[in-house]
Amino acid sequence: MNLVIDQDRLVSEIEALARISDAEPPAVTRIVFTPTDLEARTWLRARCLEAGLTVRQDAIGNIFARWTGTDEAAAPVATGSHFDAIPNAGKYDGVVGVLGGLEAIRALQRSDFRPTRSIELILFTSEEPTRFGIGCLGSRILSGTLTAEAARQLTDSSGQTLEHVRRQADMHGDLESVRLDSGHYSSFVELHIEQGPLLERTHVPLGIVESIAAPASYQLVVEGAGGHAGGVLMPGRKDALCVAAEIILAVEEAALASGSSDTVATVGICDVFPGAVNSIPSRARLTLDLRDTDLLRRDRVLQTIQKKSQQVSEKRGVSIQFQIINADAPAICSSIVTDALIRSCSKYNLPFQKMVSRAYHDSLFMSRVVPAGMLFIPCRNGYSHRPDEFASPEDIGRGTLVLAETLAELSRCD
Ligand code: HGY
Ligand code: MN
Ligand code: MN
Repeated sequence: MNLVIDQDRLVSEIEALARISDAEPPAVTRIVFTPTDLEARTWLRARCLEAGLTVRQDAIGNIFARWTGTDEAAAPVATGSHFDAIPNAGKYDGVVGVLGGLEAIRALQRSDFRPTRSIELILFTSEEPTRFGIGCLGSRILSGTLTAEAARQLTDSSGQTLEHVRRQADMHGDLESVRLDSGHYSSFVELHIEQGPLLERTHVPLGIVESIAAPASYQLVVEGAGGHAGGVLMPGRKDALCVAAEIILAVEEAALASGSSDTVATVGICDVFPGAVNSIPSRARLTLDLRDTDLLRRDRVLQTIQKKSQQVSEKRGVSIQFQIINADAPAICSSIVTDALIRSCSKYNLPFQKMVSRAYHDSLFMSRVVPAGMLFIPCRNGYSHRPDEFASPEDIGRGTLVLAETLAELSRCD
């Protein structure tokens, strides 16, 4: 099998998709179910149809593009990733796995290879938590990690329900129909940029992911007492933003003190009410993103943060609400996939290193219903979720070649 990746075409498609965005280049913003997202879906669907794939879309908008194998009854092999982008993001996060997956299939089609198992490219809906507050919406519902009922309760910051927005985007059918049982796929492999500095630092071109860290996110609302910035004296103030400030530093301290560099914690959003220059903040809303490869350690750090938050709020006489958004277990990647990835790297004499994924991905939830694994390529300085995110054409091409070889192996029925 002579596999040749059309690197130039793949890079130009990544550039073309990056132009379907609500941000000034080089930034990319593509929020789920916005007109830009729908335009990207149309563009992506056309690329899949051009490749002769049969395309379907489920009730949450996951898109499935299948290259039918010689044994249509055999459980397909799947690959894919996401194509939404957080505000002011880069052009490679998720997209490398979507367009790289498509090019891997096209490269196999161009060679004399024919799959026994069908090979299916999945374009997941809303991997980013931007609009509905929880990440991996499409793969969570597909894997049953998020029930259809719970998904229907989700609303965006303007109060629009997921149900309303998805139907407006022409996504019909009950969310119950999205769920796919274990056994629907025989394996799943996702190509993605590392979103960290390790591969570049060690000059290793490929990462084979062994585990995906356990993500959790929470919302904290501090209710203090507002008032006139000039008229209210300092003693006895109940300034909600001062409480939030102490909590934000306590979050950083708890993560640093966990005993492992695998613990990471971030307060990414801090909304202040009323948000006026001469008015004491009466309310502050914080989001906490807390992750660790070790579930118990993550939850110990959470308890430390909760305890400190309680102490601060009692000391300052304010109330605090702690709401869980998600708290997921880590994923252990399947040796069915990691061994196939290793054989593919070795076949092309490509060095690789085994590693952890600190970012979460759709693979985290696919691993609940199918043997799953991930292949990383380096990104410059480890940057991601910022406009200067960059992966070189050579790294993208290498990753796509190994993905194509791995899909070929996994699509053979043993
Ligand atoms: O936040 C994450 O880990 C992913 O990039 N959504
Ligand atoms: Mn991301
Ligand atoms: Mn991603």
